[in-house]
Amino acid sequence: MTITVSAPGKLMLFGEHAVVYNRPCIVTAVGLRFYVTLEETNGNSITIDSSLENEQYKISVPDLISSSIYPDKVSFVLAAIQHLYRKYGIDKGIAVTTRGPDRSFGLGSSSAITVAIVKALSELFSLNLSTSEMFDLSYQAVLTVQKKASGFDVAAALYGGTIYFLTGGKTILPLEVGQLPIIIGYSGKKVSTVNYVAAVNSLYEKHTWAIESIFELMNQLTERAKDKFLLSDWLTLGEFANLNQGLLESLGVNTFDLAKLIFAARKAGALGAKLSGAGGGDCMYAIATPDTSALVKQSIIDAGGEIVNCDLNADGARLE
Ligand code: PMV
Repeated sequence: MTITVSAPGKLMLFGEHAVVYNRPCIVTAVGLRFYVTLEETNGNSITIDSSLENEQYKISVPDLISSSIYPDKVSFVLAAIQHLYRKYGIDKGIAVTTRGPDRSFGLGSSSAITVAIVKALSELFSLNLSTSEMFDLSYQAVLTVQKKASGFDVAAALYGGTIYFLTGGKTILPLEVGQLPIIIGYSGKKVSTVNYVAAVNSLYEKHTWAIESIFELMNQLTERAKDKFLLSDWLTLGEFANLNQGLLESLGVNTFDLAKLIFAARKAGALGAKLSGAGGGDCMYAIATPDTSALVKQSIIDAGGEIVNCDLNADGARLE
């Protein structure tokens, strides 16, 4: 039997970094989809063929079960299989193939692949896992690789749509939003999310009183943004995006390349703009009304960015 599952990437809208510290965030799933195909094989090897990472890898089930090493390019795939195999005592060989869009712009390929693997394994071995069981397994796998992570990207990949999310999945609330007037700009490559989470953590340890206050303001913004999304109040959401950006700047995660795109978008008439995710590069987004949208896009390109064209509020993980 062959099973294929796809899962979407994500765009963080509000609350990044604070969400690692028990505060909420808002995230939307994006229509850049990642695919996992599984086939049961004879014997007890797991083979991985990743066109995403241009990597092929093979390990026996007993070795994977006892392993604590996760080679970089297949780390999320291995961690997800390991968690599920251990929990359900599975010892069967499988062939795993992963694929995705030519470019992923830092918009959540690892979490999408992790979720797709877990859902595909649930289907292949008829485990009938609930969405919350799949969330827990996928989140554990991500934590195994990243050590510190909120799980927001796992929730976006699994549930899809636009969600209000509290650390570790304590709350996962789908938000009924209409068309999101959001433009995504890609600033270029970045260092890893793990490094940026660690940098914020060391700042937090040194100046807890200050960073706690910043996270608390982020919390307030996210709470209010949730209501404004439901009202499609883009003007206020633009102002909130700018405020959130100022707070992220104070954490030291902004870069000159991101700042250029953000200022260019605002100058061209965007209602607001901020970076999205850990910072250090990757993407920013701008909120813009239809009359300024073309100008905002052009200004992002002129400032050295690239427009990422993809659907927002996309479907969650699904069987293909
Ligand atoms: O860099 P991204 O898009 O994976 O976003 C990371 C968001 C953080 O809040 C910094 C980390 C997390 O796990 O929530």
